[in-house]
Amino acid sequence: MQDGEVTIPGRQGSNVDDRIDIDIDKELDNAAKGVSRRNFIKGVICGGAAVSSAGYLFRASNLLGQYGDAGDRLITINVNGQQRRVDAMKQETLAWTLRYKLGLTGTKLGCDRAECGACTVLIDDVPHYSCSVLTHTVRNRKVVTIEGLAAADGTLHPVQQGVIDEQGFQCAFCMSGFIMSTVGFLKTNPNPTRTELAHGISGNLCRCQDYDKILTAMMRGAENLRKGKVHA
Ligand code: FES
Ligand code: FES
Repeated sequence: MQDGEVTIPGRQGSNVDDRIDIDIDKELDNAAKGVSRRNFIKGVICGGAAVSSAGYLFRASNLLGQYGDAGDRLITINVNGQQRRVDAMKQETLAWTLRYKLGLTGTKLGCDRAECGACTVLIDDVPHYSCSVLTHTVRNRKVVTIEGLAAADGTLHPVQQGVIDEQGFQCAFCMSGFIMSTVGFLKTNPNPTRTELAHGISGNLCRCQDYDKILTAMMRGAENLRKGKVHA
């Protein structure tokens, strides 16, 4: 069929044909105006794309509106013992800043709503869900992520070594959160019972459901820490 041509099925007869007639009449109308079916479809697609693009534009302008003044956004935060200058929006979470501004992707984002613990970091030695902490609120505080646990020479933290000793995880997506929670908990209770440690890190979830092995690994980490056991 050429552009501008219109086929006319079932022009006369039943009610169905009557409905068809209505569409045909529209098409004839369009054809009379030089609008082919193909061009009509192209027009619909382009219109949809335009509406969709407009949505992005409006969304972008909304975000730009929230982005605020550059002077307010530039802050310095202490992460893993280093002063890091970062451009962070007022509503930006610490997890977002760590992962996407500072490249510290060891901090995971699971739920992004304070439920799973995958994003746990230490703030002034206390475990926090970094997905639920605004970056601007940690300006005068000390943030430690999983990347900051090992010694400068690469020697693992005793709790990290505990994971290796016991092979405590399956996919390990939740691992850095569990380790950070355990390290934080051991600062207040360095010699916990298994039950105490289980309670201490109960804010962390593992989708692979490997809790028994994880707890064994964390207990080994506590033991390593008490013995001052470090590994190359
Ligand atoms: S990602 Fe922060 S608690 Fe789940
Ligand atoms: S080991 Fe897979 S989510 Fe915990």
